[in-house]
Amino acid sequence: MHGIVKTRIAFSALLLYKELLRRRRLLALALLIALFFLASSSLSLRSLCFRVLGTRLVGGVRSEVTMAGGAVVAGGEGKEYPGKLTLFVLLTCVVAATGGLIFGYDIGISGDVNPSICGVTSMDSFLRKFFPEVLSKEKANKSTNQYCTFDSPLLTIFTSSLYLAALVSSFFASVVTRVFGRKWSMLGGGLIFLIGSALNGAAINVSMLIFGRIFLGIGIGFANQSVPLYLSEMAPARLRGMLNIGFQLMITIGIFAANVINYGTAKIEGGWGWRVSLALAAVPASIITIGSLFLPDTPNSLIERGHPEAAKEMLRRVRGTDDVYEEFSDLVAASEESKMVKHPWKNILKRKYRPQLTMTILIPFFQQLTGINVIMFYAPVLFKTIGFGDDASLMSAVITGVVNVVATFVSIFTVDKLGRRKLFLQGGTQMLISQAIVGTLIAIKFGTSGQGQIPKGYGYVVLFFICVYVAGFAWSWGPLGWLVPSEIFPLEIRSAGQSINVSVNMFFTFIIAQVFLTMLCHMKFGLFYFFAGWVLIMTIFIALFLPETKNVPIEEMISVWKAHWFWGKFIADEDIHVRGDHVGSADLHAKA
Ligand code: BGC
Repeated sequence: MHGIVKTRIAFSALLLYKELLRRRRLLALALLIALFFLASSSLSLRSLCFRVLGTRLVGGVRSEVTMAGGAVVAGGEGKEYPGKLTLFVLLTCVVAATGGLIFGYDIGISGDVNPSICGVTSMDSFLRKFFPEVLSKEKANKSTNQYCTFDSPLLTIFTSSLYLAALVSSFFASVVTRVFGRKWSMLGGGLIFLIGSALNGAAINVSMLIFGRIFLGIGIGFANQSVPLYLSEMAPARLRGMLNIGFQLMITIGIFAANVINYGTAKIEGGWGWRVSLALAAVPASIITIGSLFLPDTPNSLIERGHPEAAKEMLRRVRGTDDVYEEFSDLVAASEESKMVKHPWKNILKRKYRPQLTMTILIPFFQQLTGINVIMFYAPVLFKTIGFGDDASLMSAVITGVVNVVATFVSIFTVDKLGRRKLFLQGGTQMLISQAIVGTLIAIKFGTSGQGQIPKGYGYVVLFFICVYVAGFAWSWGPLGWLVPSEIFPLEIRSAGQSINVSVNMFFTFIIAQVFLTMLCHMKFGLFYFFAGWVLIMTIFIALFLPETKNVPIEEMISVWKAHWFWGKFIADEDIHVRGDHVGSADLHAKA
């Protein structure tokens, strides 16, 4: 552990002891929390406890796995292969990341989570054409209750159909990605999304609209399944976080662009503005479709599909050096093992894959339980009550949208230096605090009745904390929710694992979209505390159970799990093969 951190922990512990003696419980509690985060950002809390107790726990204290050939891989400290960041790899990753645009554009254009507030479903002309009964009910709804706005199950189901389509299609995408390569899934995703945008832009009835939406969903399922994998495999280990987060950056740009476009098209007289918004989805779809035509496949996938020479050539190109022997032979070893696995779906349930399986289910689940989509989509309601009037949705979209995009850069530049855990823990703490403050500020003004007025100054304070929350998400759970699941699986089940990630993400976005307005109406400001509670749980979960994966070569990630105090016991020594060799427990503790 770093010396400064050690000193800080010791100092905090001393203060804590003094406060406890003086019976100042609140201060002691605050110090305890500070101590917890200081400790957990360096190593897991459990290993700290065991260290304090003098217990030597298997893999508990930052143990390292010695690989064949003497290279050492430990949690957060990777083995380094020769090579540099080439223009070629940078360009391919930028092009592949544009796959995130279609997802982001859809989130922004349709107002997926809260259709009555933003997106095309808030345009009268759109509702008049496809959902006239919704429009008349909406007009008749004169309630001033800030918690219980108009809720239309029909519209919610319509917007959510996309998530269900994405959920199912990601399983098909998993087969395409594994058998034919990552590139073809991306291309397929772009093409299908393109068809969806044409159907939606030209829609003359509800069925055409729903068909179009299902196509959009399938496209997103394919792109979200393959793009994060592609990026994680293409990138050199020490820059994997940065290049992978390009995907989340494109999502945030897509959301922002769509919101601004929507604002403009809503003003088009003649009632066809919604067509423009929906049809413009063809732009991001064309970018990824045409882009992926030119993309090479990843060396990992080339080897997996039996093209070792092409893979070696590709590796030379992407790493910008001829000295790729070591990395190449590790990829071949990973592929040899992957060949032994014929049924990824059956295998993923094996005990040795339990750590990765748990993460790929819980990380997207937690990502949606941060409440990001609720806060982002509830923001315009607040803006209206603050007094922005008709410009509320634009103002809200611009402010939260810009914060979302800009804050994503923070993770791009820090994720490979600070690591995933620190961002998760810092971002989580920031979201927790800001969410609790927003809940309290709203409770003070609207109480449990939902009636009240927010003065402008007060409104700006709420807005400030919403932005603090969005920033916290944008450099933690947003990007890491896509990065971590894509980098933790061994080759043989990576594609299957990523589809679970996508489908869990889509499923919970769908569930939250279905119930959020009802929850707001019943739980009132408590909804913010509800999500804050979840953020607390997930932050503690990360502190205890997620090992650091920064800089570790993707095909050697198994060693990180083996070295973890909890997950280590799920992986037998013989499960770890590197370049065909076994790593024994003696090696495992060689540097502990
Ligand atoms: C999430 C979306 C969210 C977006 C916000 C993504 O990572 O999956 O649900 O709307 O971030 O930027």
